[in-house]
Amino acid sequence: MKEAAFPEGFYRVGENGYFDGVDLGALAKKYGTPLYVVSETSVRARCAQLREAFLRRYSNTRVYYASKAFQTLDMLRALKDEDFGIDVVSGGELFAALRAGIHAENIIFHGNAKTDEELRAAVQARVGRIAIDNLEEIFRIEREASIAGTRQALLFRVTPGVDSHTHRFISTGSLDSKFGIPLEQSETERYIDALKACPHVEFFGLHFHIGSQLLENTSHLAALKIVLDFAGRLSKKYGLEVRELNMGGGFGIRYLPKDSVPSISDFIDPMMAFVVEWSSREKLPMPHCAIEPGRWIVGEAGLTLYKVIATKAIPGIRTYVAVDGGLGDNIRPALYEARYHAEIVEASPDAPPLSDRRQRTVTIAGRYCESGDILARDIKLPEPGAGDILALFSTGAYCYAMSSNYNRVPRPALVMLRDATARLSIRRETYDDLLSREM
Ligand SMILES: Cc1ncc(COP(=O)(O)O)c(C=O)c1O
Repeated sequence: MKEAAFPEGFYRVGENGYFDGVDLGALAKKYGTPLYVVSETSVRARCAQLREAFLRRYSNTRVYYASKAFQTLDMLRALKDEDFGIDVVSGGELFAALRAGIHAENIIFHGNAKTDEELRAAVQARVGRIAIDNLEEIFRIEREASIAGTRQALLFRVTPGVDSHTHRFISTGSLDSKFGIPLEQSETERYIDALKACPHVEFFGLHFHIGSQLLENTSHLAALKIVLDFAGRLSKKYGLEVRELNMGGGFGIRYLPKDSVPSISDFIDPMMAFVVEWSSREKLPMPHCAIEPGRWIVGEAGLTLYKVIATKAIPGIRTYVAVDGGLGDNIRPALYEARYHAEIVEASPDAPPLSDRRQRTVTIAGRYCESGDILARDIKLPEPGAGDILALFSTGAYCYAMSSNYNRVPRPALVMLRDATARLSIRRETYDDLLSREM
């Protein structure tokens, strides 16, 4: 179990909160709020951990960063510098990855409903892998690859039929899932026939991803066992060697101080032991192994700064603390009841210092016109007041990436921190930006 302090990289100098060596109140003043703050230092530290625990420890391995978690040009460039591959799920993510200089060979393209245009772009760019999600896709890729005069490497994304212990909206491995190919024999034979009929596609191996924010390794191991059995059948019955095995992402992170999560090795070591044992038992070559973490790399590296706008005490019920952001910059609580930890990182100059305030249990409410727009429920804070700057922690993954302009609120700016300095990575949207596509 991980023992590090939470939030990692956060500390106080006097009453003021610092993250990665940078004064958060000063950031709020300079760039305004709400403000996404992402520590590149932390991202790179996670990459270094993955190198130690996976890439250097086991040969023929690869990490693809699941860029849907947080995709910006800056982030992609950092990952390129770390020599990680990139997982993309749309033409837009592919476009950005290529623009950031990611080598196409290091890109894996996913999606359960890839359009013709997206498949064409992926094949023409010569992406390293396309993960197949349905039968027709094989024929559609065959068509694009034959036009492009290339041979496209494929993985089959399979559904191992394992229920992962996470919110049902981020569980993907059970049989009734919109993602992946079910492992029924009749289905398998149709896919194998398709491969035989398509000379411009090349089967490389299997992929599974069973869900996100998993806090124990049991679902991964149960899925892996099923997928390895399937790999054995493919090889022995159909002569189809699984040269590559991509075990997806889903490794959980800490959102609350009380959360304890397995270390990345607690996931990786037993999985790799399974594959090694399978390979020697079945007398089949050891496949190249890959993982695809998103949240684990960037989730705890991010926080969001908000300004408190108003407070409202409903006697005997609860006290709402309304801030200047919410569902538009972080839809996770409304979407799947995600929980967050928050702290006041700078007291309003017009209010008493934090040390003079009483601890209160409050609920942080967003500014959007939805009752479900609650960022953190029932958390203890030194009685918040208007003008305080509040940090919501572990917002690095699936917040900026899922942001919207609901209520015509411009998206926040984003700063990246590295070695105790901040740089503006994405400017704040303007009202003109909001109207820029309207005819
Ligand atoms: C195919 C695939 N790989 C990897 C991921 C990354 O998951 P996580 O961010 O939980 O690691 C996802 C997330 O939805 C996914 O669908």
